[in-house]
Amino acid sequence: MKTKFLILFSIGLYYANNIYAQNPIVGAGLEVDPYHYEITRTGTYENGTVACAHPLASQVGVAVMKRGGNAFDAAIATQLALAVVYPGAGNIGGGGFMTARIASSSSNIMLDFREKAPSHASRDMYLDKDGNAVLEKSQNGHLSAGVPGTVAGLFKTLPYAKLSFKELIEPAIILAEKGFVLSEKEANGLNSDRANFIKYNTLKKIAFVKDTGIWHAGDTLVQPELAETLKRIQKDGAKGFYEGKTANYILEEMKRGGGIITLDDLKNYEAKERIPLSFQYRGYEVISTPPPSSGGLILAQVLRMIEPFPVADMGFHSTLSIHLIAEAERRSFADRAKFMGDPDFWKVPDSALISTKYLMQRMSDFNPDSATPSKLIDAGNIPVSEQTTHISIADKQGNMVAITTTLNNHFGSKTVAGHAGFILNDEMDDFSVKPGVPNMYGAIGGEANAIAPNKRMLSAMSPTLVLKNGNPFLVVGTPGGTTIPTSVIQSIVNVIDYKMSIEKAIAEPKFHLQWSPDILYVEKGFDTRILDSLRKMGYTIQERGGIGRTEIVEFKNGKLLSASDPRGDDSVAGY
Ligand code: GLY
Repeated sequence: MKTKFLILFSIGLYYANNIYAQNPIVGAGLEVDPYHYEITRTGTYENGTVACAHPLASQVGVAVMKRGGNAFDAAIATQLALAVVYPGAGNIGGGGFMTARIASSSSNIMLDFREKAPSHASRDMYLDKDGNAVLEKSQNGHLSAGVPGTVAGLFKTLPYAKLSFKELIEPAIILAEKGFVLSEKEANGLNSDRANFIKYNTLKKIAFVKDTGIWHAGDTLVQPELAETLKRIQKDGAKGFYEGKTANYILEEMKRGGGIITLDDLKNYEAKERIPLSFQYRGYEVISTPPPSSGGLILAQVLRMIEPFPVADMGFHSTLSIHLIAEAERRSFADRAKFMGDPDFWKVPDSALISTKYLMQRMSDFNPDSATPSKLIDAGNIPVSEQTTHISIADKQGNMVAITTTLNNHFGSKTVAGHAGFILNDEMDDFSVKPGVPNMYGAIGGEANAIAPNKRMLSAMSPTLVLKNGNPFLVVGTPGGTTIPTSVIQSIVNVIDYKMSIEKAIAEPKFHLQWSPDILYVEKGFDTRILDSLRKMGYTIQERGGIGRTEIVEFKNGKLLSASDPRGDDSVAGY
C-alpha cells in the first residue's frame, strides 16, 4: 500500500518563482522531475527500493537501478543526489560508514570513510589559555572541519557497482546546475542558518544565502559552483576532489578562515574497509559498524543486555520495558565514554565489551523497581589495555546497502568551501575536546577519543543489516548523533519483539538515555501515566524534538517493503 503526501508548497507560488517550470529536464540524464515531486512514505516493490531523506534522491537511486545498476549503484547516485537536494546533511564535505551485503557471495562488507583530524590538529586545540573548552571553535567554522571522507567512500563502493561513476554522478550534476524546488522544511532549514552562513563564510556570495531575503517553499535552489565541483569529480575521479582545483578551493578557504586542513591531508585521505561487527539477537544476525563508530558496539551491548528479559511480554512502551532498555543504554554509554575511539589509535576492547559474561555482570545491578543514578554507574571493569543522514537500499538479487553519512550538525561547520559550493563538516566536535566536557550531543569522553593528528573521531553512526536464517531481512539506519543507536535498537526491537510493521516501528515515539546527562529524553506521544511511574522510579524525564529519521527496507515474501520516517521529508521509491 502506498501512502502519498503532497509536498507542502503552493503550486501557484511555484509557477511564479520557478523559471524552469515550463522547461522540465526529465529525459536529460535525469529521470526525475525536480520541480514536481511528492513524498511517498511506504511502498512494496519487486526489483529495488531506496528509502532516504529526500524524494528526489530516492528517485535518482531507483532510476539508476532501472538502467541496470544494483543497490551499490543506487547508493552512490543517491548519496551524490542528497549532497545537492539535502545540503543540511547530504554531503561531499563530510564522511560516513556503509554496511552492505553482496548477494553473489553472501558476504558482508563495511566501509569506513569517517572524516579524520587534520595532521596539524592537536589534543588541546579547542582550549583557551586558561584551559577552558571553546566549543564555538569545535562546532562552527573552519577549525571545526575534519578531512572529508565521503568522496573516497563512494569510490571505494564503486567496485561493487555495475555502472560507471560518470553515469552515477550525472543526476547530481543536473540537479545542482538546473536546481530543484525547495519544500517548506528545506526552506525553513536554510533560513534558520542564514545568520550562521553569513558569520562563518569568507565569501559574500554562497548559494545557500538568498540575495533577496528568506527562502520560501517553491523557490528553486540552484548550485552552479557545486555542479562544477561534481563535474571535476566526474572527469578526474577522487582526484577531482582531493587534488587540483577543488583541493585548491578548500585550501584557499582554510587560509582565508584560519583552518588547518592541508593539501597532504586531502591527498592522503583513505577510506578503509573494516570487518563488520556481527552478533545474534533472538536468533537474528545483526551486522553493523565497528569502531571508529560506537554504533555497532552500543547496538550489540544494549540488545544483548535486554535479550534475557521477556521484552515482548513486558509490553510495548510499558514502564518496565522502557526502564530495561534505558538502563541498558545507560551502562553502554558509560562504556562508550571510556573505552571507544579510533581503533587505529586506541585499543578498543571490543570482544570483551560484548561478551556474554561481561554483559551479564553489567546488568547484575539492574533493579526492576528503580532507576540507577548515572553517578553510581561507571564504565565496566574491562582488562584494557543531528545532522546526519541515512539511506537504506535493497535489490531483488539480495544486495543490501545501509549507508549513513554526516556533516555532524545541521549544515556542519556552516562554512562553504568558497567557489567549490559544498559545506564542510564540523566533525572535530565528535572528539572529546577536553575530558568531561560534553560535545554538542551532550556526550563526554576521555583518552580513547582525545584529539590526535590523523585520528578518526568517535561516531555513533550505525548503518545496520539484519539477517533471518542467514537470509536478508532488514536494512536499517538513521541520523541523530548519539541517539542513532537508540533509534536503530528500538526499531529492531519493535519489529522483532513487538512484531510491528516497519512503518509503525519507525513512526512510534522513541526514548533515549545516554548515561551523561542522566536524563531520559522522550519524544511526544508517550502515555503520561507511564512517564509518571518512571519519574517515581527515579528518572528525570525531558521531552525533546524528534529522535532520528529512520529508513528501513524489509525483505518479505519475495517482495521489498520500504518505509521512511514521517519526522522529515523522507521518502521511498522503488519499482
Ligand atoms: N556526527 C555524528 C556521529 O558521527 O555520530
